[in-house]
Amino acid sequence: MSETAEKATLAVGGKQLDMPIKKGTIGPDVMDISSLYAQAKMFTFDPGFTSTASCESKITYIDGDEGVLLYRGYPIEQLAEHGDFIETCYLLLYGNLPNLAERKEFEDAITHHTMIHEQMSRFFSGFRRDAHPMAVMVGTVGALSAFYHDSTDINDPRQREIASRRMIAKLPTIAAMTYKYSIGQPFVYPRNDLSYASNFLHMCFAVPCEPYKVNPVLARAMDRIFTLHADHEQNASTSTVRLAGSSGANPFACIAAGIACLWGPAHGGANEAALEMLAEIGHVDNIPKYIAKAKDKNDPFRLMGFGHRVYKNYDPRAKIMQKTAHEVLQELGIKDDPLLDVAVELEQIALKDEYFVERKLYPNIDFYSGITLRALGFPTSMFTVLFALARTVGWIAQWREMIEDPNQRIGRPRQLYTGATQRDYMPMSRRGK
Ligand code: ACO
Repeated sequence: MSETAEKATLAVGGKQLDMPIKKGTIGPDVMDISSLYAQAKMFTFDPGFTSTASCESKITYIDGDEGVLLYRGYPIEQLAEHGDFIETCYLLLYGNLPNLAERKEFEDAITHHTMIHEQMSRFFSGFRRDAHPMAVMVGTVGALSAFYHDSTDINDPRQREIASRRMIAKLPTIAAMTYKYSIGQPFVYPRNDLSYASNFLHMCFAVPCEPYKVNPVLARAMDRIFTLHADHEQNASTSTVRLAGSSGANPFACIAAGIACLWGPAHGGANEAALEMLAEIGHVDNIPKYIAKAKDKNDPFRLMGFGHRVYKNYDPRAKIMQKTAHEVLQELGIKDDPLLDVAVELEQIALKDEYFVERKLYPNIDFYSGITLRALGFPTSMFTVLFALARTVGWIAQWREMIEDPNQRIGRPRQLYTGATQRDYMPMSRRGK
């Protein structure tokens, strides 16, 4: 970040205040208002942070108007097409694509840390079988800090590194155990001879009584889904992780906080909601009715999988996801998927409809990921879990960047208070009946 010679001048209370303007490498400049309160005794007001940059970051760049997403400068399309998730994890964490030796060392380390403390497996039986898998994830990922005390000191770079690798390695195991527990099947231990995505599919879908061979096309699709979800700059869950981490909380607790935030239907829960919506629409003939509902201000219904706070153009991940969905359906020989028919038709209609065009509401990644995940064999309740698994590396990269920033301070937003002004305590006898 560099400071420009230019200043923004604010006229407040008869005073002219100069605010420095700072430049990144790409994207909008920022006005540094950190001295505003000291100078003007005034806060800024920006609910939902629509105009506020909460931090400086070198990890992910989004141009929502142009539909661009870069991880460390590399376009998501190129990473999804030519790279894989392990390479993407390395890139997000360390800033560059690994060379052969670096990749081998990193992949080996991740592969050899996939088992979880055996005692953790008993944790699962404390949950109801019908618990939402995200509830189990929040609990068990938070519980990692109770099992791995040797990597919770955030001031020790080595411990930060170990915690980072542990989470990337163990999240698939925890996610698969969450799934197995929910369907009453025995846990399947990780296998070190399989790739990251294949191992995950194996842990989810193998059973002890028969061999299970991972289909490479499906493993590639799974890997791509992980890559597409790996990071997305300062979204709600990432900001949650940063805010939790700013107090010095341990990394496992911070990632559990991120998982809790991701669960919401306006964020990671949207892929589950999108598929439920497609099922509710059921047939292409019903689409006009649902489009009308989405446009009706008196109806809370929204087209799930449409719209994005940042993308006011096609979400670049949605295009790749659409292709992946077709590849998976073709591989599995699913020719007529009524939900896919509804999805394709709905997309076409919404993209031409004035309401959606005017508001720049395009399909987001969740629109097609639900169809793909369902075809891979996951129930809808697992969709957000898979998102959390993939996003863990992004959360960790962002958390590390924050901890390593010498200017890092506890995050503490201010408020515009509109409640009662000071008043005196009233005894019960004078409060009426
Ligand atoms: N269906 C119908 N109308 C919509 C939709 C939608 N999906 N999304 C936004 N709008 C309308 C709003 O009603 C509003 O209309 P108005 O200007 O007439 O009042 C306008 O578009 C702007 O919407 P906001 O809610 O102000 O936009 P915001 O940036 O706050 O919300 C959000 C973004 C939450 C993603 C929203 O588009 C939404 O709820 N989409 C459905 C849920 C979804 O798919 N979420 C996934 C996000 S991506 C992710 O987390 C991976």
